[in-house]
Amino acid sequence: MEFFEKSLEIDGKIYGNRGALKNNSTTANWDKSCLPDTIQTFDEYKSLYALSINDPNHFWKMAAERLDWYQVPTKIKNTEFDCRSSRGVEIKWYEDGIINVCYNCLDRHIEKDPKAAKEVAIIFEPDTLTEVRHHITYAELLRAVKKFANVLKKHGIKKGDVVTIYMPMVVETCIALLACARIGAIHSVVFGGFSSNSVAERISDCQSIAVITSDFGVRGGKCTPLKSKIDQALTMEQCKTVKTVLVFRRNQGILPLQDDCVEQRNSLQWTDGTDFWVHEELEKVDDNCEPEPMNAEDPLFILYTSGSTGKPKGILHTTGGYLTYASLTFKYTFAYQPGEIYMCTADVGWITGHSYVLYGPLSNRATTVVFEGIPTYPDVSRFWNIIDKHQINIFYTAPTAIRSLMGHDDSFVTRTSRKSLRLLGTVGEPINPEAWRWYYTVVGNSQCSIVDTWWQTETGGFMITPLPNVWPLEPGSATLPFFGIQTQLLSKDTKQPMQPPAEGALCIRDSWPGQARSLYRNHKRFVEVYFEPYPGYYFSGDGCEIKENGYHWITGRVDDVLVISGHNIGTAEVESALVQHHDVAEAAVVGYPDVIKTQGMYCFVTLKDNVAESDALKRELIKTVRDRIGAHVFPDIIHFAPNLPKTRSGKIMRRILRKIVEPDILNLGDTSTLNDPSVVQELIEKSPRTR
Ligand code: WTA
Repeated sequence: MEFFEKSLEIDGKIYGNRGALKNNSTTANWDKSCLPDTIQTFDEYKSLYALSINDPNHFWKMAAERLDWYQVPTKIKNTEFDCRSSRGVEIKWYEDGIINVCYNCLDRHIEKDPKAAKEVAIIFEPDTLTEVRHHITYAELLRAVKKFANVLKKHGIKKGDVVTIYMPMVVETCIALLACARIGAIHSVVFGGFSSNSVAERISDCQSIAVITSDFGVRGGKCTPLKSKIDQALTMEQCKTVKTVLVFRRNQGILPLQDDCVEQRNSLQWTDGTDFWVHEELEKVDDNCEPEPMNAEDPLFILYTSGSTGKPKGILHTTGGYLTYASLTFKYTFAYQPGEIYMCTADVGWITGHSYVLYGPLSNRATTVVFEGIPTYPDVSRFWNIIDKHQINIFYTAPTAIRSLMGHDDSFVTRTSRKSLRLLGTVGEPINPEAWRWYYTVVGNSQCSIVDTWWQTETGGFMITPLPNVWPLEPGSATLPFFGIQTQLLSKDTKQPMQPPAEGALCIRDSWPGQARSLYRNHKRFVEVYFEPYPGYYFSGDGCEIKENGYHWITGRVDDVLVISGHNIGTAEVESALVQHHDVAEAAVVGYPDVIKTQGMYCFVTLKDNVAESDALKRELIKTVRDRIGAHVFPDIIHFAPNLPKTRSGKIMRRILRKIVEPDILNLGDTSTLNDPSVVQELIEKSPRTR
C-alpha cells in the first residue's frame, strides 16, 4: 500500500498524510447504485451526504447491500421522531429484512472467498507481556463460536432470551457475544469492573436467564475475581431468573498463572445444576450450528448506560440497522483496507467494544486486536510496544489514556518504531488540543491523520467524525457529521433551533439505522429522556458549538452525567451509593474539570446528626462507592457539608454546586430562590477547589 509521503500542515489545520491512499480513484466507480469503497474527496462526501439526507431510503438501501441478508429488505426507513405525534416515537429500519449478525461477521467471508478462512480475525494480546503471538483465524473463530452456540442451546437458551455476559477482555468474550448473536439470544454485557450489586441490578432489570462469565480476569498484573461476584449477585432475590452460569477458564493453557489467580481458582464456589465449566460443556456438543435467521428489528443486545437520574438505562439495539451502521462507519471512518491490522483499546463491556472491537471490524473482514491489559502495565510503553509487535495500522483509543501517557517522558514512545501506523483515532470525551498535538506529533510521528469520533451508546456508531484526509482537521474538533446525520443545535433556554455559528444543546433531526430503538421494556423512559426535552429531535445530552466552517466542537454533558476517563457515571448512582452508608444523610455529586480524566468527581456529603467528620470516614465512603458500583468509579473529593443549597421546595441546586467546584464563584447566577443563601458561602469557604 502506498501512502502520501509528506504531512501537510496549513494554517494550523492538519491533514495526516497516511490517512488516505495515494490512488485517487474518487467517484469513478460510484454509479449511485452502490456505495464507494472509501470516501476520497470532499466533493464525494458532499454529494453522498446530500443523497443520504435527501433520499435516506436510497442511501441506506445501498449501505444494507454491503451485508448478506436471507431476505433483502424492501422497506428501508420507517421512523417517527416526534413525541407529540399520534404514533409516538417509533424507529424501524429494514423491517422486512431477515439477517444474522454472526453469519455476516464470520461465515460469509469464508463462503465468498475461501482465503478468508486462514486470515486472522482476532489477535489476542494478554495482560502478561509475552513474545507469543496469539492469532485466531476466521475459520477457528467460526468453529469456536458454533461450538459455544451449541453449548448455549444445550442449556435451553434460545432466540429472544437475555444472557448477561460478565467477562474480562479475552477472545472468549467475543466468542460469547457472537454465539448469542448466532442463535438470536440477546446479550447484555456488563463491564467486568462492576461490583456484584451493579451486576445484580442489571441482571434483574433485563431478567436474564443465564450468565456467561470467567473464573477471573487479569489486568495490570492483578487478578480480578468474576465468578465469585456473580455468585454474590445471584444470592439476591431479584436475580432468581438466572438458571445457568457458564464459566470460562481464563486463557486455559496459554500462560502460567500468577499466585493470586491460582488462589482465586482454588477458592471458587460451585453450585451443581447451575454452574458449568465451558471447557467441559464444549466436549459434549457437536461442531455444526446454523445461524438463526432474525428479523432486522429483533433485538441484538442490551447495554446499560448511566442516566442523570434513577437506575441505569438498558439501551436496546436491534439487528439489521445496527450492523449496517456499525459496519459502514467502521469502513469509512477508518478507511479500512484488506489486510490491515486494527486495534481499539476499549473493553467489550462498553459500546465502543461492541461496535468497534467486534461487530464493525469483523463484518468488514478486518483483523482486530483484543487487549486484556491496561496502558500502564508493565510500563507506559505498552500500547506502543503492542503497535510494533503486531504491526498495527489503525489505533483507536480514549483521550484519557493519551493524557495519562503524555505525562511521562516522550522516550517511552520514541523508543518504539510505530512505523506501521497509518491512522489514529479517539473516542469518549473531548480531546484537548494539547493532547491531540502530542498524539499527532509524538505517537503518529506527524504522519497519521486522527479521527476524533463523537458518538454514544445510544447512537450505535460514529455520528460526528472526520473521514481520513477528506477534509482538514482542527485539533479538538470532531469536525463534520457522518452520512445520514443531521445535527441541530437548540437553545437550552428557549428550546428554539439555532443557526450556526452558535453553541447549544446537540440534537439530531432525523433517525439513522444504528440508533437505539428503546430502553429495554421501558419505552416511556426512552421517550422522556431522549425525545421530550426537545420535541421533534433526538437529544444527545451533550452541548456543542458549531463554528462558521460547520465544524463541531463538543463542550461536554449538559445533564448530570459525568464523563470520567471516558466512562459515563450517573451522579444519581453515586449519590444513592453514598446514602446507603449508615452515617450519611444526604449526598450531591457534581463534576469538575480535570486535566487527565476530563472530569473529577466531587461529592458533597451531609452526615447524620452526631456523626463526626474524619478522614477515615472519607476513605470508607470512597470504598462504599467503589464496592457498590465498581472499582472504576472513584470519588476524588469528599466534602462534608452540613447544609446543601436547596430551593424552597427542597430540590438541591446542582447548578450552584457545579459553579463552586469548577470553581467559578463569581458567576453563581441567581441564588434568590435558595431557602438559605448563606449555605453557599459556607461551602465556598470549605471547598478545596476554591481555597
Ligand atoms: C462523550 C462512547 C467529545 C459525550 C462512544 C457522549 C465525546 C458520551 C466523544 C457517550 C468525542 C464520546 N468528543 N465527547 N469524540 N465521544 N463523548 O455512551 O459526552 O460511553 O455523550 O459512548 O461520551 O459515552 P458512551
